[in-house]
Amino acid sequence: MSSSTPPGGAVPEPPLWEQMVENARNAEGERLQKVLARAGFGSRRICEELIEDGRVTVNGEVAILGRRVDVEHDEVCVDGGPVGLLPGLVYYLLNKPEGVVTTSFDTHDRETVVDLVPAEPRVFSVGRLDIDTTGLLILTNDGQLTQFLTHPSHGVEKEYIAEVQCGPKGVSHGALRALRDGVELEDGMTAPAEVGQLEPGVLRIVIHEGRNRQVRRMCDAVGYPVLRLVRTRIGPLRDTKLRPGQWRELTTDEVRALTRAVDQDATDTM
Ligand code: URA
Repeated sequence: MSSSTPPGGAVPEPPLWEQMVENARNAEGERLQKVLARAGFGSRRICEELIEDGRVTVNGEVAILGRRVDVEHDEVCVDGGPVGLLPGLVYYLLNKPEGVVTTSFDTHDRETVVDLVPAEPRVFSVGRLDIDTTGLLILTNDGQLTQFLTHPSHGVEKEYIAEVQCGPKGVSHGALRALRDGVELEDGMTAPAEVGQLEPGVLRIVIHEGRNRQVRRMCDAVGYPVLRLVRTRIGPLRDTKLRPGQWRELTTDEVRALTRAVDQDATDTM
């Protein structure tokens, strides 16, 4: 095909056969490097290098250059972390204020977290925070990432600051040890946690699990009820600038860091 522009300046349509070949190819999926480039991994050339270096897998198999993928069905990972491939995926980080419920629709007509972010495209929260808890919450329409992040036994680290009811000496060493080692709750023992006392009655608690009201129930179980609870980190994500009620989109690097943070064991067992 000639690449010259005909007199008059009109750009020629590609011949019909070329369009037909391209349509047939698209029916087999899109080129992997194109899909990765769209997902923010760099130029197509850089994405080709990622593939050539063996860092990309499709459905668990190392991909080779020329691989095509169906973004609706294939699972693509870079360096072991799943990649959100569908165009139109959005990822919001919200600082949830007190009094707002983590649900898509509240039967009592209370304000919900999805009321605080754009209505379109429709998003869902990744896990939940209690109505009285404030802090970081991810909302997305990426079902695959949500599934990975909320995997019951291998979720990413979540960091909380809990102000608890206690005397002037703060929380006892015994209680701190119990929180670290695991406490018996009605739905079983909690997994080991990182727990420190920042000042008397103010705890920094890092857990991997995401059980219902877990931090409050853990503190109750050792005799120090929670007065105030804030989530300050989800895996690699922190943001000290977002005010309660504010949200922002995650950067591509943050989405990537988040997928990498998912315990490899979780991806292996799914
Ligand atoms: N643990 C709790 O008790 N509440 C939350 O909102 C999150 C974790």
